[in-house]
Amino acid sequence: IAGGCLSLIVLGASGDLAKKKTFPAIFNLYKQGFLPDEMHVFGYARSNMTNEELHEKLLRYLKAERTDPTTNPEDVRKQFLNKITYIHGAYDADEGFIKLNEEILRLEREESDDNSPTRRLFYLALPPSVYPLVSKQIRKHCMNQRGWTRVIVEKPFGKDLESSEVLSSELGSLFTEDQLYRIDHYLGKELVQNLLVMRFANRFFVPIWNRDNIANVQIVFKEDFGTQGRGGYFDEYGIIRDIIQNHLVQVLCLVAMEKPVSLSPEHVRDEKVKVLQCIEPINEEEVVIGQYEGYKDDPTVPNDSVTPTFASLVLRINNERWDGVPFIMKAGKSLDTRKAEIRVQFKDVPGDIFKCKKQGRNEFVMRLQPKEAMYMKLTVKEPGLDMRATQSELDMSYHQRYQDIVIPEAYERLLLDTIRGDQQHFVRRDELRVAWEIFTPLLHRIDAGKLKVIPYKEGSRGPAEADELNARMGYQRTEGY
Ligand code: BG6
Repeated sequence: IAGGCLSLIVLGASGDLAKKKTFPAIFNLYKQGFLPDEMHVFGYARSNMTNEELHEKLLRYLKAERTDPTTNPEDVRKQFLNKITYIHGAYDADEGFIKLNEEILRLEREESDDNSPTRRLFYLALPPSVYPLVSKQIRKHCMNQRGWTRVIVEKPFGKDLESSEVLSSELGSLFTEDQLYRIDHYLGKELVQNLLVMRFANRFFVPIWNRDNIANVQIVFKEDFGTQGRGGYFDEYGIIRDIIQNHLVQVLCLVAMEKPVSLSPEHVRDEKVKVLQCIEPINEEEVVIGQYEGYKDDPTVPNDSVTPTFASLVLRINNERWDGVPFIMKAGKSLDTRKAEIRVQFKDVPGDIFKCKKQGRNEFVMRLQPKEAMYMKLTVKEPGLDMRATQSELDMSYHQRYQDIVIPEAYERLLLDTIRGDQQHFVRRDELRVAWEIFTPLLHRIDAGKLKVIPYKEGSRGPAEADELNARMGYQRTEGY
């Protein structure tokens, strides 16, 4: 990428997110040649460590594969680690940030003369409680005087509408909207990015994507493991704040929004906001929440916790396209399998002469993970002498269709977007506000213990009530696929 010396500054450098996602994403971009030679990475955190100690910690997360075959992967990794400088300091004191700025300046000067532009990207891999403090320090000491400064922040952006608005105002007083990149890593997933193309570039889909043809939509996230040492964080938030209000709602926007005027970030995000504004208040009769047995065995979770680790709820979009079509949003931890998928179920063909109903309905499924795939469930003639209808699939599995292509990690793609200055796959402030407006009343009722939390077995499908809710919404389950 052209544009002058690039500094990537990871705040919270010794934390889990930085180690597991941020540094590996930078490394992947680096080894594929997406980052300029004049690039430096800075790690900032409170613990007192040397550069070498940080490098040592990161080593096991930086996978050497996928390097240019003419280079030695170990050398590439070493070169990359040599570009990482660690600086320790508090998040609320001037000293550390002054030192950080001096270090950035020193390396910028080594790379370029005083007149050429430079670029600074700050990645806040930190708990949101320290965002305001850290952001003030960046604003005070580290703003780039010779080019752009951009800041990536991670969810959770608050706990409800009010706290989110407070955080937004604090950040908004320090940075302009085009400097702020609110990451939702689901927007970086290959199939989520494919949604716009699938919907708006295929004649197959364009005319049928509406209430006349679609019976219901499910957006599902399942994990076959529990909170895994993150119980302390998770218990404060619960599954709706952790997954549904952000990741699944972002997917819903792309499934349900109208065609944007163009692919410009503002046009796309305008449409997302509009569809969110059409969502009706959630009806508690259409909500099931649960908690897996064993959740409270985690020592960081209070013994009397009623935090949901599972939720299934119906969103209804009051507009011409979607009136009457339930969008079932389901997310859960410690379930029977790990997968995320979108399931669009079509209405029955009127005047059935083949007895197709027994075979199941047409469905279009996008499996976001694992093993990315898109498939259509269709009714076909069963091969053979009899005239019998059966269900089969038109299947586009990525591992078969795109054998030689490695699908990039979501964080990798989103980091590159940030460097390129493309905000299409980032959440705008008004989008965030509407998403909180939808969920805040329900969340407050759950927090106040007003909804029953149904226990479910680890490794199960979740509470049976969720399957009943699906059935009530008209979802017809078919076997297989
Ligand atoms: C995170 C949640 O945002 O997404 C985690 O905080 C969850 O609880 C994770 O495990 C899931 O991400 P992915 O990409 O593995 O589906």
